[in-house]
Amino acid sequence: MAPSFSLLLLSLSVLVSATAPCPASDSAALMAFRSALSEPYLGIFSSWTGHDCCSKWYGVSCDPATGRVADITLRGESEDPILAHAGRSGGIMSGRISPEICRLDRLTTLVLADWKQISGPIPPCITSLPLLRILDLIGNRLSGPLPADIGRLSHLTVLNVADNQISGQIPASLPSLSSLMHLDLSNNRLSGRVPPNFGDLRMLSRALLARNQISGPIPASICSMARLADLDLAGNRISGEVPVALGSMPVLSSLYLDGNRISGRIPAGIIGSRGLGMLNLSRNALEGEIPDAFTPRSYFMVLDLSYNRLRGHVPRTLSSAAYIGHLDLSHNHLCGPIPDGSNFDHLEATSFAGNDCLCGAPLPACG
Ligand SMILES: *[C@@H]1O[C@H](CO)[C@@H](O)[C@H](O)[C@H]1NC(C)=O
Repeated sequence: MAPSFSLLLLSLSVLVSATAPCPASDSAALMAFRSALSEPYLGIFSSWTGHDCCSKWYGVSCDPATGRVADITLRGESEDPILAHAGRSGGIMSGRISPEICRLDRLTTLVLADWKQISGPIPPCITSLPLLRILDLIGNRLSGPLPADIGRLSHLTVLNVADNQISGQIPASLPSLSSLMHLDLSNNRLSGRVPPNFGDLRMLSRALLARNQISGPIPASICSMARLADLDLAGNRISGEVPVALGSMPVLSSLYLDGNRISGRIPAGIIGSRGLGMLNLSRNALEGEIPDAFTPRSYFMVLDLSYNRLRGHVPRTLSSAAYIGHLDLSHNHLCGPIPDGSNFDHLEATSFAGNDCLCGAPLPACG
């Protein structure tokens, strides 16, 4: 074959695949997916007709190289003109996620977010989508467990099922999600423990597990997570102590452990941590003294230690901290004079209320 002819063939085939309509099997899977859902207000599915699912169907896009469906992104709350046009602040969709979606085996992104009323389970077959990178199902009414073999999704970077009614345990396979960067399981009904090897999630930067019924200790393996910036376990039934090594995590910037059953002392490393800017340990059973470990590099936007069993003085070094935005030491058993310093000038008496015998500004002077 003459080189120029094969070149022509090549460029023709590129052209054809770039404009090819999606395969009939993909559009059939999308139609089955659509028929299990109902979206009465915006009419987002009205564009889902004809064969060209890759360019004409709202929320669907394809891999230009293969012409296969790669991305389904349907958000009930967004800046999208379709919402503004309908004069609604948010959409509502009911129905279920059809397992037919698992026939879209080149899918990399599935976003079905903030539709408020999509119910039923997450189809277990979703773990057979080998290229899936983003699974975002936040803000629906999904129930049942997370798929047991979710750890198979080796490309998954975002797993967000927050604000649903997911129950059961965190799957033992979850720590095998070796690409996972963002995990949000908040506001569900998950119970059982955080898997002991949770720290295997080496790429994870946000672990948001708040407001479930998770029990057991904070796994020590978490302390080895080099990229973890945000850890939120608030509003669960976590017990045991705060692992000392949490205070030496390299990039941890927010730590929310409030509203649990955590006991023991506050590790000094947490108070002295350079990068930690948001710390809420409120409403636990913490005892002992507040470590006198603040430094001129301490910079807390939020430092809430209220409703614990802390004793002793307000640490002297607190006034050496570079910044303390919101401080709450109320409802403990602290005693003695509140150290003075510019850090306290904006604080009100409520930050220190309900202790045993604190005194000095902003509370009444010591006797
Ligand atoms: C800390 O957590 C408690 C209990 O969950 C909550 O009431 C409080 O508002 C939180 N503090 C801040 C400053 O967000």
